[in-house]
Amino acid sequence: MTLREALTRATRQLDASPGLCADAARDAALLLRHALGISHAAQLADPNRALTPAQQAAYDALIQRRRASEPIQYITGEQEFYGLALRVTPAVLIPRPETEQLVEAVLAELDGARPLRILDVGTGSGAIAIALAHHLPHASITAVDLSSAALEVAASNAARHALTDRIRFLASDLLAALPLDESLFDAPGSPASGLGSLGWDAIVANPPYVPTADRDALHPQVRDHEPTAALFAGHDGLDIYRRLIPQARAALRSNGLLALEIGHNQREAIASLLSDWGQLRFLDDLQQIPRVALARKP
Ligand SMILES: C[S@@+](CC[C@H](N)C(=O)[O-])C[C@H]1O[C@@H](n2cnc3c(N)ncnc32)[C@H](O)[C@@H]1O
Repeated sequence: MTLREALTRATRQLDASPGLCADAARDAALLLRHALGISHAAQLADPNRALTPAQQAAYDALIQRRRASEPIQYITGEQEFYGLALRVTPAVLIPRPETEQLVEAVLAELDGARPLRILDVGTGSGAIAIALAHHLPHASITAVDLSSAALEVAASNAARHALTDRIRFLASDLLAALPLDESLFDAPGSPASGLGSLGWDAIVANPPYVPTADRDALHPQVRDHEPTAALFAGHDGLDIYRRLIPQARAALRSNGLLALEIGHNQREAIASLLSDWGQLRFLDDLQQIPRVALARKP
């Protein structure tokens, strides 16, 4: 079978699979390149090249995984976030475009010329911590997660982007493992070294926020493959915010920034939880859904 024939057959199979038709051609091509270890240019250059039986079998196996709704990113092990290639495994949420908006909002709020101490709560793949460290060369970042498997992935991503000297990863239930003066952490050689004031300059989080009752409404690709601990937060999806917001208030410096990604229909509840904070505002995503909450510690 030639490359072109294999691609046509796989596209048809994905096209006929419920929920997968929209991206069938794109996914079939991506998985072909992944199975063969070839570039897009090589795929286009020689469509009549014959696949070996081993290549055909490897490609078929990937297509079967995709037909079972496994996210393409877990199959290829890669997702781009804020222009940075990240490793992803089923231990971590696949970073989303909405979260790039959270990163963009934080970058717009902070003075990148200053040494900064930033905390990323629920780091998952490390997406937020790594994007912020990449764009804020004077920042020292601590990234926490409950999941040690996620922290292993996040650390490998930091190493991939040569950011291990400015990001440290810690297992923690929200801020529980961080003493209140923990923001004095200075990465070796960090320009933040020697700073004396207490408190984080910014705490950023994209926590789990899906109500448990919404489980059945989620796409199987999400519900059956992404980590449960990354998705759900109690009956109304607000359990983590209720615990995190008071902890963040105690740990931020005066006028420090709290930046949260929030879920569908959560604006009013988050506004109430942040009612005694300063400069509260919400940013909409491209679908006009309030997606990012920003507030300053009074
Ligand atoms: C929605 S995912 C976000 C991952 C990543 N920050 C991103 O935006 O792609 C939420 C993450 O929070 C972690 N998490 C859930 N509960 C937590 C808790 N109580 N303390 C720390 N991390 C928690 C999960 O393991 C998961 O990695």
